[in-house]
Amino acid sequence: MNHDIERILYSEVQIAEAVKKLGEQITRDYTGKTPVLLCILKGSSVFHADLMRAIDLPVEADFLIAKSYGMSSQSSGKLKILKEPEIDIKNRDIIIVEDILDTAVTLSALLHTLSLREPASLKTAVFLDKNLGIKKPVSADYKCFDAENEFLVGYGLDYAERYRNLPYVGVLRREIYN
Ligand code: IMP
Ligand code: MG
Repeated sequence: MNHDIERILYSEVQIAEAVKKLGEQITRDYTGKTPVLLCILKGSSVFHADLMRAIDLPVEADFLIAKSYGMSSQSSGKLKILKEPEIDIKNRDIIIVEDILDTAVTLSALLHTLSLREPASLKTAVFLDKNLGIKKPVSADYKCFDAENEFLVGYGLDYAERYRNLPYVGVLRREIYN
């Protein structure tokens, strides 16, 4: 285990199981369709790659980079898309693939922006849903785990761009970021 990690929350095996189950659920729900798995870079890259391979349907992959402002209590912050998806979203079945739902400000703004482009359907698949003890502006349609309210890294999640490559999700030691 990496020395900067206090404890492992989800092991590589637990993650593989949860992603496989989620892939099967999406396969059932989208039978006969060709969903677009829209990866929100960079945190979701690892989850996106695994989830895609757990879905037994034709899928298309695309990528988006977004930055949200006004991270306050308001339900829908302003969103700037720094990298647009290539696929035309209109009339497509879009599944937004997110690494972690914290305040959900980012996802809520993204849902608003993308819904204006008139997709056939718009759903969200989230790897971790953090329990903040508050009601979030949006909830995930699909998720792998409900997570504790701690700073987590690994499986795509970073601290200052590091730790994304850890195959598990762990709690980062406080000394690292304090
Ligand atoms: P939200 O808009 O507050 O839901 O923020 C979600 C984004 O914040 C995620 O996509 C992550 O990039 C980042 N984030 C939130 N919590 C964590 C964490 O525990 N570890 C790493 N990144 C996090
Ligand atoms: Mg992110």
